[in-house]
Amino acid sequence: MGLTWSHAPTLEVFWSSLNSTPMKNRSSLVLAFLIGLAISVGGAQAPAPAPATEPPHLEKRGAVTQLIVDGKPFLALAGELHNSTTSNLNYLEPIWGRLAAEHLNTVLAPVSWELIEPQEGKYDFTLVDGMLTEARRNNLRLVLLWMGSWKNGTSRYAADWVKTNQERYPRVQNQDGKTLEILTPLSTATRDADARAYAALMKHVRETDSTRHTVIMIQMQNEVGVLGDTRDHSAAANAVFGAAVPAELMTYLNQHKEALRPELREAWNAAGGKTSGTWAEIFGANPETDKIFMAWNYARYMGYVTAAGKSEYPIPVFVNTWIVQPQDKIPGDYPSGGPVAEVHDLWRAGAPAIDILCPDVYLPDFPGIVAEYARAGEPFFIPESRAGLGGAANAFYVIGQYGAIGYSPFGIEDTATWPGNSSEGISSFGSASVGYGSGDPLAKAYAVLRDLSPLILSHQADKTIAGVWLNASQTTQKVVLGNYTLNFESRRTRGAPANVPSVSYALAICLGPDEYLVAGTDIEVTFTPNTPGPATAGLLSVEEGQYVDGTWVPGRRLNGDEVQLRYDLSAAAAEGQSGAGLRFSANGPTVQRVKLYRYR
Ligand code: DGJ
Repeated sequence: MGLTWSHAPTLEVFWSSLNSTPMKNRSSLVLAFLIGLAISVGGAQAPAPAPATEPPHLEKRGAVTQLIVDGKPFLALAGELHNSTTSNLNYLEPIWGRLAAEHLNTVLAPVSWELIEPQEGKYDFTLVDGMLTEARRNNLRLVLLWMGSWKNGTSRYAADWVKTNQERYPRVQNQDGKTLEILTPLSTATRDADARAYAALMKHVRETDSTRHTVIMIQMQNEVGVLGDTRDHSAAANAVFGAAVPAELMTYLNQHKEALRPELREAWNAAGGKTSGTWAEIFGANPETDKIFMAWNYARYMGYVTAAGKSEYPIPVFVNTWIVQPQDKIPGDYPSGGPVAEVHDLWRAGAPAIDILCPDVYLPDFPGIVAEYARAGEPFFIPESRAGLGGAANAFYVIGQYGAIGYSPFGIEDTATWPGNSSEGISSFGSASVGYGSGDPLAKAYAVLRDLSPLILSHQADKTIAGVWLNASQTTQKVVLGNYTLNFESRRTRGAPANVPSVSYALAICLGPDEYLVAGTDIEVTFTPNTPGPATAGLLSVEEGQYVDGTWVPGRRLNGDEVQLRYDLSAAAAEGQSGAGLRFSANGPTVQRVKLYRYR
């Protein structure tokens, strides 16, 4: 029986880690490599796991639903390309390597109807094949964005032969009878044409990728909904709007009455709680009902298209949402009928084939929006948001706090940074002697998440992980985790110039009864026991370090200035504190492991 090298720490990783590790820490790294090697040799008798043949899929594991790729939970450290980037393989070619170098493992890449079906029934998958080749070469996975009938509400990515045949593929009309460049979701001819094209794409993905699993998920269309009016007011749509709400939807609403989103339940109750009637009779005659009507029709259409694709190759499918912006007054200012939180029930009822309803989050209150869109135990993903420091904070938060399957900033080839990506005015106590160097804050955060991902994924399932996101208006957060409450505080609140715009963040994992791993940037944390016994927590030992192939490689043992947060010890004692805690500099994220003890 031979040695199973597939599980050994590879020499390549070892050499690259050794080169990036300061001289004085290299002995620990060599030791970790040898231990890893010994474990691999010791495990040589174990049969090699069978190659996973099942397609990427979602699976409930403990407290969360995770994305399973090649038989194992997968954390998508992703980024989305600009809309037109994948229309030309030469343009795309130099981008792949950069994305891999920035520690992405997944790229969200558009595939448009106009380019894969230039003539009705004649498919061209050259671009898809080119993307598969380059993604594999760069060890990246793909999430394909199906830009079929809609992208940001409009229908500009539809095939030319669809765009130019308005009779066969009708459009949304506004209240003035003007036609908008939006295919109506009420047309079965358009739905069927879209479903045929999408199913052909998924057949091609199955034929070319079902043993490689480069493509791990699909985004169905992009930010759908009617812009410019509250609903489709064409004669055909008016007739459907004036008819009874489908019995199928009424049955769903009745069966899920208690769990419905409050906005929907209130609208239904306010209109008299009827069990049958027209849309206006059931939900009231107002613009919100127009949105509900459009949500049902988009969901039916997209659920149908999704199911057609899944019958070819059943990998997870999500939709992304243009969420309501502060300046919006009525549906149509934002896409009416898109999967905003208050119409999620319509989407769940109308499109059971769609697995995840995701928000695109560009607004500053990331935690508030995530709280509105995530549902305990269900899969969650952020397909569009910020890069830079804000993106790093968002990724840590949503993966740590919500068990998300991944995070993806938009326009990743620009490696755009969020204003506020500045560490000016902040001292660097706690700069790590091992770590992830300087560079783009998101790339560094992804490197940390990559190294921690086996730990993160198992602790997501156990719910022994938390995420923390702080800014100028929310400077502290308490996290109850295991036997302690972790008191996080943004370092910006400690004598930093008030005008420094920023975000502080962390991810904490409970490793044992008195042991934690914390990774973070620009943040401090103290510990308060929350189980019976001595009331104060002291730091027994603190190590900074990093995981190399799943093995903890310690750097400095931190003590003294690096952990002493305050010297007013009596005041600290009155608060049940020792005065010491973990401190993470602005130049993060860095990783620390702490063992605690308790005293009276
Ligand atoms: C959201 C859309 O979904 C993306 O395709 C892109 O248009 C961005 N907005 C641009 O900010």
